[in-house]
Amino acid sequence: MAKSHTQYICQDCGYTNPRYLGRCPTCGNWDTMVEERIEKSSPSSAASSARFNATSVPRPIQDIHSDEENRMQLKHQEFSRVLGGGLVPGSINLIGGDPGIGKSTLLLQIALEIAEQEKVLYVSGEESERQIKMRADRLQRDQAGEVSSLPSKLLLVTETNLDAILDHAAEIKPKLLIVDSIQTSYLPQLESSAGSVSQVRECASLLREYAKRTGTSIFLIGHVTKEGNIAGPRVLEHIVDTVLYLEGDRFQAYRLLRSVKNRFGATSEVGVFEMQERGMIEITNPSEAFLAERMINAPGSAIAVTMEGTRPILVEIQGLTNPTTFGNPRRTPNGIEFNRLLLITAVLTRRAGYKLTDQDVFVNVVGGLRISEPAADLAVAAAIASSVKDIPVKADTILIGEIGLSGELRMASRMSDRLGEAAKLGFKSAIIPKRLRSGGITFPKDINVIEVRSLSQALNEALVKK
Ligand code: TYD
Ligand code: MG
Repeated sequence: MAKSHTQYICQDCGYTNPRYLGRCPTCGNWDTMVEERIEKSSPSSAASSARFNATSVPRPIQDIHSDEENRMQLKHQEFSRVLGGGLVPGSINLIGGDPGIGKSTLLLQIALEIAEQEKVLYVSGEESERQIKMRADRLQRDQAGEVSSLPSKLLLVTETNLDAILDHAAEIKPKLLIVDSIQTSYLPQLESSAGSVSQVRECASLLREYAKRTGTSIFLIGHVTKEGNIAGPRVLEHIVDTVLYLEGDRFQAYRLLRSVKNRFGATSEVGVFEMQERGMIEITNPSEAFLAERMINAPGSAIAVTMEGTRPILVEIQGLTNPTTFGNPRRTPNGIEFNRLLLITAVLTRRAGYKLTDQDVFVNVVGGLRISEPAADLAVAAAIASSVKDIPVKADTILIGEIGLSGELRMASRMSDRLGEAAKLGFKSAIIPKRLRSGGITFPKDINVIEVRSLSQALNEALVKK
C-alpha cells in the first residue's frame, strides 16, 4: 500500500505547511489551516501516470450508460422519491439530522429491506452490534407482535477505523454500505481526532472513491451542529452526491426527509414519515395526517397549502392572541420564521386595523412542520385575526398568498397544484391573491376560487359572518 503522510493546508489560499499554524502566513487569515493526508506513491509515478497512463477514455455521449436504468427500487416509496426514484449504484449519500430524530432507525429499515436481496454492510461507530440487533428485532415485528426472521445478508459491525471499514467492505462486497456516523470514523494516519474537519473530509473522500470504483451505494449518517448544518466542513456536502436532512420536532411523531442536494433528481423533494413503535412508517397522504386533529369551527385556526418540494401539503396554522400583562408584547412563532410573524402582525395592525400592539401573539404550525415560504402568510394572518375577533375561519376554506407591506396579496407558485390538493381533501373554497395576468393558469373546477387584492378583503371573506 502506498505510504502516506499528513500536512496542513490553508482552506482559503491553498498554502501548505508540515505543521499547524493558527494564522496562514500567505493570506493572513486565522484558523483556516486543516490537516490533509497525502498519498506517497513511487517517486515519478504520480505525475507520469496522470500524464501518460490515463485510464480514462473520452467517449461519445450516446455510448455512455447512465445509471438511471440500474436504480435500485425500494419498497419505501417515500424514501425512493426523495432520492429521485430509487437508489443509484455507486452513489454516496449523506443523511443529517438532530440526534434522536430517527436517522439510524430509517437507514436500518432500508438496510433490512435491501438485505432481502442484496448484501448490506451496516457499520456503526455509535452503537454496539447488540443494540442494533435489538432495534432490528423491533422493526421486524408485525402488527401482532410476531418477529419475522432477519435477513442473513445484513452484516453488522462496530468499527470506527476507516481503513478497517474499507477492508471489511472489500471482503464482503456489499451492494449497500452504511456508515453511522461519518463523525465517528477516523483515519489513523491523521493526527486530528475523529469528527474534526480534516478527518471528516478525508474519510468521506475515501468512501466516495470506494463507491465510484466498486459501484457500491453508500449512506453516511452525519451529525448536525447547533445551527442545524451538517457538522464538519461544507466540503462534505460537495463530496457527496445527495444530501438529505431528516427534520421534525422531537416531541411530535412526524418526520420530514428533505433532499437539499441531489445529483440524480429534483432537490427539495420531501418524504413524510411518522415515528411509531415499529420504526418510521411512511405517510402517503400527509395532508390528511396533518389535518387529522383539527377542531372544526374553533377560532384561531386556518388552513394553508404549502409546497414541500413538488408536493402540496395542507397544514393547519393556529394563532392565539392574549393581552400582554407585562412589558413588551411577545411574538412566539413555532414552525414559521420570527421575522415573518413580525411582518404579518405589523401589516395586520397597520393595514387591516387589528390592534395587536398590546397583545401577545402565538403561532403554531400543527404537526411539527416548518414552513419557510411566504405563501403561508395569509393563513397565518387569518389564524391571528380569527383569534383576536374570536370568530372562526370558514371550515371549508383554505388560504394561500404572500402578504406585502402595503397589505396587498401576492401570488404563490404552482397555484393549480395547491388548489387541486385542497379540492381532493374536500375543501370547497380557496381565498387567493387576484391574478393580474391570467397567463393561461387554469384552476381545478371543483373548488370555488375567491380572488382578492388585499389582506382586509381576504379576512373579510375568510371569517364566518356573525
Ligand atoms: P435513532 O434512529 O436512534 O435516531 P438518530 O440515529 O437520528 O440519533 O432514533 C431514536 C429515537 O427513535 C428514540 O427516541 C426511540 C425512537 N424509536 C421509536 O419511536 N420507534 C422505533 O421503532 C425505534 C427503533 C426508535
Ligand atoms: Mg443514530
